[in-house]
Amino acid sequence: MFKSLFRTKNIDKIVADAAALEEGHGSGLTRVLTVRDLTFFGIAAILGAGSFSSLGGAVFNGGPGVVILFGITAIACAFTAFCYSEFASRIPVAGSAYTYAYASFGELFAWIIGWALIMEYSIGNIYVAYSWSDYFTSFLDKINVHVPAWLSTSYMEAKHGVEGGSANVDINAAWNTAPMLGSLKIILDLPALIINVLITYLVYRGIKESRNFSNIMVVLKMAVVCLVILVGGYLVFSNGLTFNWQPANDEGVKSFMPNGFGGVMMAVSGVFFAYIGFDAVSVLAEESKNPQRDLPRGMILSLVICTVVYILLTLVLTGAVNYRNFDGIGDPLAFIFEKQNLNVGWMQFLVAICAVIAMTSVLLVFQMGQPRIWMSMSRDGLMPPVFQKIHPKYKTPSFATIITGLVVGIPILFTDKTFVLDFTSIATLFAFVLVCGGVLLLPRRDKEKGKFHIPFINGQFIYPVIVLAALLSIGLIFKDYFKELFQFSLNEKDQTKIIKSLNNDAKAAFSENYVLTSNEINVIQKRLKNENSTLDFIQKVDGNNKMLSVVIDSIGSRRIRESENYKKYSSSSGSKLIDSLPLLLNSNPTLFNEIFSSLSVYPPPQSISNNEKILIEKSLLNLEDSSLLKKFNNQILAFEILQGDTAIKKDTLIEAILSNGYYGLKNSDLLDKASANLLIKKTQNSATIIFWLICILLALLTVIKKYSLIPLLGLTTCLYLLTGMTWANWAWFLAWLTIGLVIYLLYGYKKSKLAL
Ligand code: ALA
Repeated sequence: MFKSLFRTKNIDKIVADAAALEEGHGSGLTRVLTVRDLTFFGIAAILGAGSFSSLGGAVFNGGPGVVILFGITAIACAFTAFCYSEFASRIPVAGSAYTYAYASFGELFAWIIGWALIMEYSIGNIYVAYSWSDYFTSFLDKINVHVPAWLSTSYMEAKHGVEGGSANVDINAAWNTAPMLGSLKIILDLPALIINVLITYLVYRGIKESRNFSNIMVVLKMAVVCLVILVGGYLVFSNGLTFNWQPANDEGVKSFMPNGFGGVMMAVSGVFFAYIGFDAVSVLAEESKNPQRDLPRGMILSLVICTVVYILLTLVLTGAVNYRNFDGIGDPLAFIFEKQNLNVGWMQFLVAICAVIAMTSVLLVFQMGQPRIWMSMSRDGLMPPVFQKIHPKYKTPSFATIITGLVVGIPILFTDKTFVLDFTSIATLFAFVLVCGGVLLLPRRDKEKGKFHIPFINGQFIYPVIVLAALLSIGLIFKDYFKELFQFSLNEKDQTKIIKSLNNDAKAAFSENYVLTSNEINVIQKRLKNENSTLDFIQKVDGNNKMLSVVIDSIGSRRIRESENYKKYSSSSGSKLIDSLPLLLNSNPTLFNEIFSSLSVYPPPQSISNNEKILIEKSLLNLEDSSLLKKFNNQILAFEILQGDTAIKKDTLIEAILSNGYYGLKNSDLLDKASANLLIKKTQNSATIIFWLICILLALLTVIKKYSLIPLLGLTTCLYLLTGMTWANWAWFLAWLTIGLVIYLLYGYKKSKLAL
């Protein structure tokens, strides 16, 4: 039995079977696609929810440094695209990575890949459908059509949000206004469900209509994404916002990667998701005119175009707004044009429409890809024969298309965005690893004219040298790298980070109501540009802002330091955390004396005259959104209190600060954050150690087997990206694989054509 699990399908037989099907009673699929269509398909699949939605979370984790991750991921994807192309040119039939694995690793792995691809194609589409719904409802809002929150939020998102004390207005509204069915709250993302039904119908109707539809959408979305880059880029430079590319981190140090490289790697799911799709081109092998030549070209062209777009988009986003402000932002491209940011109303509107279009085309491509993979699996006997059924009139795999619609539609009712994003990314990376590994196992072949070949570069010596050089240079440049790699507890640096980041979160919550951001000061400045003595006034606000920020730091640090669990936490881990709190070293003087001594580096608070107040209130009142005015007034209040001498007034300020950010901060938050970070550290360290071990093993094997360098590098970079996954990602993914394995043993193993 063990041997038969790895039975492989002969490549010539795969191609001959497909040809026979086409000539005989016909696979029914028509060969209509050219290289341009394939590139368009690639872009249609790639450019979507990743750039319009998950980019926000990625930037929040990694800051502007996320462009580095886009670079690494692009390299990994380019190598993988070469591998897909090699396979696609040898095996030009539908089925993507699944078919390729069948020819190289054997049936069991082929099934596993097919199973993992359900994650990429169907579960990935759930994320896209949710994002589509977010933008669609915000577009409707802009034209004054309001969908109730309970009909545009997923149940799990609302439940998790409310349980986690989310401040998100929509989530709370969904939970509080939902009608009841018995004891169950009716909360569902209706637009996501409706778009899924529409897309399923379109795919069911046939490839030609879908292709035309898709091409138009690609042109439109590329045009608008370019506009975002041009308008946003222009404003970043003309408003002098380039300092945002070097934001201060929790320690106050300015850096392109404010959360370090670890923070950048935390963005892997979001960044990788943005690239998923170039491989979808390969499932169209049976519908393209010249698959051997056109598939690789289509894939690599679309990949290159999207990489350039992503890097520019990330720079525009992180230039326009400080990376911290992207926390929880699901529509980052529209967000940067909001009033408090770049303040371009028409761009917000345009981006919302464009996002809806972009994501529709992504949905379409994946919804077309999934039935075609199932069709291949069914032909091999690994899935029931009904999955091969071709519609007599529309010539599409009709049954498989409807099942895809259900597999995407039903989970929309009970999953949420973060979960499906992580799940999709880990499974797809896993499939990529197997595709690159599969190419290594293919027998070498002679060049044939008109066919794509991965250029063969013998890795025998180059690869081991690369691995060795990487290990040595990392050890030399980052002195503690290997020491920390084997550390499975939180060291002092980690603990300090936790305290500071907790403090910063609370500070951000307070600042949202009280501290004007530099972008907001810019908006005020623009509105006042015709008034005299504006500069003076703006400088005052700016100076006061900085000081208020120090006051908040002091109160926050003290509060955390005083907490019982903080003491427990620091003593149980045996470290002195006092170093992490430089503002409050001495606990004897009263809080205010401490604060004022820490303020000595700043000029005293500057009072804002009544005239100035009236001036600014008048100008801000013109804005539809009154949040700026509220902030401004709150800030004035804070300074009036700060300038007063009575203890009562000072207490009022402390009260205001505590109730606007620190009050909700519980001791348990500290412990929760510490244990979450510990789990991340353990998972990432273990994954990285395994990664290096695999690299060393591959290097040894390459010396013996003379493997080809490009697939080797593809394999290595994809494995590296996997090291960024969390423990929860791995747990869910392994559970999914186990279920798949059981199904295979119960059905596919017995029914496989190779078993007969
Ligand atoms: N890359 C695709 C997107 O971003 C999945 O929507």
